[in-house]
Amino acid sequence: MMDKYSKMKILYICCMCMTVSVSQYIFDDTNGLGRRFDGIGGLSGGGATSKLLPGYNEELRDQILDYLFKPNFGASLHILKVEIGGGSMSGVGSEATHMYHGGDLNYQRGYEWWIMKEAKKRNPKIKLYGLPWVFSGWVGKGTNSPYTYPERTVDYIIKWIQGAKEEHGLTIDYIGEWNEKNYNTTYLKMLRQALDKNGFEFTEIVACDDYQAEFETKMANEMLLDPELSAAIGYFGVHYSSTQSNIGSIMWGKQLWASEDYSTFNDEKGARCWARILNQNYVNGLMTSTISWNLIAAYYEGMPYQRCGLMTSNNPWSGHYDVNPTIWMTAHTTQFTEPGWLYLSHHSGVGHLTGGGSYVSLTNPDKTELTIILETIGHDDSQCLHEVLPGYSVVNQTVTFQLQGSFSHITSLNVWFSMLGNAAQKNVSILFQNKGTLQALPDGSFTLHVVENQVYTLTTLSSGVKGEHPTPPQPEPFPLPYIDTFNDVVDHQEPYFVAPMSGSFEVIPSGTAGNKVLRQMTILQPVDWCETENFTLALVGNVSWTDIYSETSVSLDMENATQGIFIAHRINSGGCYTVGGQGFLFYVFPGNGTYEVWGDSRRATLLAFGMAKNLKTSGFNKLGLKAKGGFAEGYVNDELTFGLRLPDTPASGFVAIGTAGFGHADFDYISITQS
Ligand SMILES: *[C@@H]1O[C@H](CO)[C@@H](O)[C@H](O)[C@H]1NC(C)=O
Ligand SMILES: *[C@@H]1O[C@H](CO)[C@@H](O)[C@H](O)[C@H]1NC(C)=O
Ligand SMILES: *[C@@H]1O[C@H](CO)[C@@H](O)[C@H](O)[C@H]1NC(C)=O
Ligand SMILES: *[C@@H]1O[C@H](CO)[C@@H](O)[C@H](O)[C@H]1NC(C)=O
Ligand SMILES: *[C@@H]1O[C@H](CO)[C@@H](O)[C@H](O)[C@H]1NC(C)=O
Ligand SMILES: *[C@@H]1O[C@H](CO)[C@@H](O)[C@H](O)[C@H]1NC(C)=O
Ligand SMILES: *[C@@H]1O[C@H](CO)[C@@H](O)[C@H](O)[C@H]1NC(C)=O
Repeated sequence: MMDKYSKMKILYICCMCMTVSVSQYIFDDTNGLGRRFDGIGGLSGGGATSKLLPGYNEELRDQILDYLFKPNFGASLHILKVEIGGGSMSGVGSEATHMYHGGDLNYQRGYEWWIMKEAKKRNPKIKLYGLPWVFSGWVGKGTNSPYTYPERTVDYIIKWIQGAKEEHGLTIDYIGEWNEKNYNTTYLKMLRQALDKNGFEFTEIVACDDYQAEFETKMANEMLLDPELSAAIGYFGVHYSSTQSNIGSIMWGKQLWASEDYSTFNDEKGARCWARILNQNYVNGLMTSTISWNLIAAYYEGMPYQRCGLMTSNNPWSGHYDVNPTIWMTAHTTQFTEPGWLYLSHHSGVGHLTGGGSYVSLTNPDKTELTIILETIGHDDSQCLHEVLPGYSVVNQTVTFQLQGSFSHITSLNVWFSMLGNAAQKNVSILFQNKGTLQALPDGSFTLHVVENQVYTLTTLSSGVKGEHPTPPQPEPFPLPYIDTFNDVVDHQEPYFVAPMSGSFEVIPSGTAGNKVLRQMTILQPVDWCETENFTLALVGNVSWTDIYSETSVSLDMENATQGIFIAHRINSGGCYTVGGQGFLFYVFPGNGTYEVWGDSRRATLLAFGMAKNLKTSGFNKLGLKAKGGFAEGYVNDELTFGLRLPDTPASGFVAIGTAGFGHADFDYISITQS
């Protein structure tokens, strides 16, 4: 692929003798343009990546949202992709579903509706894209697939799209199938028919959101042979393809997307990765949209995929957030293009630089504007997390642009510049700096001298802005004591700092007026994405906690209740790694009056068990767990139930509450103090 496209009209003057490359590049639309540009996006979810964002105070939260979505301010994203929560774990946590069982329907849960509304408020043109990772158990009806009963899955997805429209005024532009799992053509056709029948003709299906080339080729071939399937699908979305697209899907002719990409720690190295793939996903792979997993790293330190977002907001109690360099790499493209613009064609405005790096150029449909983005990101220290990156080198180069066709009249371009220097370049970091204008030479050409690890935008638009809000507060450790009665939480929302990993937890009114409880909601075995087990867990606090006293009060007096509940310390892993993680978990079983103490979430290492004398068979039971100086004590309704020496590992971790098996349980409060 790369070779085919790198043979462009180049005037190769000199070369390696001086390790300076001088090359001329033609920008011309005379022989037509390239593909339509569909926009740059971020992904909230997959899963629970935005969890800690709602907990910021409103003023700071608004600032963060501006950096992500406000046009001509920061990342100015064109697309917001969100998870359609399924009440079970994926990625770095679990998100609520609109339908826990057949009799349930609720569109007030979770934070994705809110994020979509905040994005639309800032940019009414932003496109919305929904995709499930896990599905409510109602969909699978006991099977671990959304395709066994495709009519249920269709119903579930259509309801989500309807809820978005009717309850939140949100139009869903794109809908995916099942993240990084197998696809089913019967289901895809049924979904298309149902979208059309329910007035969502404009909602396009993106398939198959996978990273396996075999799937892409298989699907591309199936589409060639099956016109109904081909008509059903709007966009071909692939994940982590290392900027390449396989031949099958290119031949197939529809728009190709990097519908999930990046997934890299968001320092300068991450920014180099992002800047490079934003250009090269089109240069090498003809992909017309690139979507970052994730949108914002708003999950606890200690979760997997630390800070793999366009920016970081994981310290809501202090208000601290980071505007990472990835935001400004995004701005280089997003602030000077719009979905619906067109790429110029390869050989005439898109390609590789002879001295290393790449360039793309885009124009609006009227061809009155032109934006060129050029990057010279070096090979070392720019690899994205899941990327295969063949070797190459970048040398100093003099780049000359000759604008022809519709662009021949342009004599001046606005210049935006970034430098992501490596160690040899003293780590110089210049982010999205306005460098004024670049004037055409008398012969009409433009010349730039570029070195490794730079990004340039040259554009006829003068709308670029490097937005800035006041410096946010310094980060602080999670504050103790922490006491949450849940009574102030809006109904059906999650408490800000309690992060569901397995199962799903929402606040509902209970008993006496004004009292609310946190209910574990998942009652049916979900259709899973990562490995799950028969327990639910929500964690809070700090992965470094050692000596802590925690307390909760929990009732099982309701329909579909679970049989056991626990409070835990030292939970040392989350997201898809919750299963198999270690911890110190104190379970009680009101049905038979027993307790069990386990050393891991999977319940493989039993540390203690016995009768919990004070445990009531109904009503609220108060559970306490204390760790201090290497010893632990458990309490039921203030009576000491066990005492034991803590195992050496894990030495620290989060506090958690949860249930044995799927089933309801109501937690009245949680309190955590230093012991
Ligand atoms: C797709 O789902 C339908 C409906 O459950 C099923 O009959 C069919 O076998 C599935 N196709 C594949 C390839 O699994
Ligand atoms: C490339 O340019 C930089 C900055 O102008 C300079 O420091 C460096 O020596 C040049 N490298 C070579 C190989 O000419
Ligand atoms: C440059 O950054 C690298 C990687 O973060 C670091 O190891 C090195 O110490 C830095 N060098 C300078 C001169 O700051
Ligand atoms: C977690 O606790 C450690 C040890 O007390 C502290 O250094 C760190 O700042 C805390 N981090 C957070 C995010 O609370
Ligand atoms: C209990 O589960 C059944 C079966 O899924 C459901 O019909 C019923 O509404 C549930 N009750 C509650 C209170 O969730
Ligand atoms: C008590 O009940 C729980 C939940 O049903 C069960 O897992 C546990 O084995 C029981 N304990 C005993 C000693 O029977
Ligand atoms: C889950 O746990 C419950 C209670 O211990 C048990 O009844 C059920 O069979 C378990 N289910 C699975 C799939 O292991």
